Amino acid sequence: MSVRRLADQQPDSFVFTKASEQLVTFWLNKYPEAKKVSAVIPMLWIAQKQEGWVSEPAIQHIAERLNMPRIRVYEVATFYTMFNLAPAGEHFIQVCGTTPCWLRGAGDLKAVCEKRIGKKGVVSKDGKFSWNEVECLGACANAPMVQISNKDGDEYYEDLTAESLTALLDALEAGKAIKPGPQNGRDCSAPEGEAKTLTDKSLYDGSMAKPIKLPNAANDTAPAASPAQKPTKAAKPVAKTKPTPPKLVKEAVADGAAPKLFERPDGEKDDLKRIGGVGPKIEALLNEMGIFHFHQIAGWTAEEVSWVNSRLKFKGRIEREDWVAQARLLSEAK
Ligand code: FES
Repeated sequence: MSVRRLADQQPDSFVFTKASEQLVTFWLNKYPEAKKVSAVIPMLWIAQKQEGWVSEPAIQHIAERLNMPRIRVYEVATFYTMFNLAPAGEHFIQVCGTTPCWLRGAGDLKAVCEKRIGKKGVVSKDGKFSWNEVECLGACANAPMVQISNKDGDEYYEDLTAESLTALLDALEAGKAIKPGPQNGRDCSAPEGEAKTLTDKSLYDGSMAKPIKLPNAANDTAPAASPAQKPTKAAKPVAKTKPTPPKLVKEAVADGAAPKLFERPDGEKDDLKRIGGVGPKIEALLNEMGIFHFHQIAGWTAEEVSWVNSRLKFKGRIEREDWVAQARLLSEAK
């Protein structure tokens, strides 16, 4: 289990570079106005890619940009081991220490890192390496494994032993390229050595496939008609009818303040839960009223919003979460 704390030494300030700002804008544009805080993880990641780690001023800057309490951003940054909370070496090694990797020799890999690089979270004297222990990286079938992050990317190195990890570190130190993936010759996460199940070759050569008999008028195996049976008239082709558009419900017609309400959806109804603030219960209520589509909500006037508000029995929520703007974006994106 890794302990996650901010580094003792912190820079005075943090700003995103112009290139990082473009990425930040890209991510912020992905979320509706009321859900901008969802960009917290991408923004922390962009800060880390820019600086090599996530500093306290970066956390504060992101909290201000997203209008979030700082503690919420601290919580995210300290929970996920993908965020380095201290400066990292040129090659940052994350050793998975969770149960499958631990049972398969993660302790040996940690010992190599300690001997070769030094203490966890401390950059080696030449600045080339640092390492940390992290939780499961999702490659348990190839345990034990490490992730190595450097200017070339973030790659997994799997099926390691103390010897193979040492060889990887030697190569990196010498500036040589190393090959990601299993380091024991295994093919991805296929069984080591020969496959022990489903080994019958006929499973794969098509010989087990049986021909399928399709019903066919010319098929000579079709049963002959009995002489007692009278030939039946061919069924008339059913004329295609145009779907009729749903009617407006009476209440909406009678009540001038009501938005347009329909007796049923026009085709497939929209998933109104995609609007921030609308859960399954509210969606059911809206559907009961005759509201099924984003374009209906996108067109609401202030009068119509207050009509819906009064029926949902809460005040101001539609305006606070700006359902109309959210629905407009969702409707345009369809
Ligand atoms: S336990 Fe190590 S990758 Fe899952």
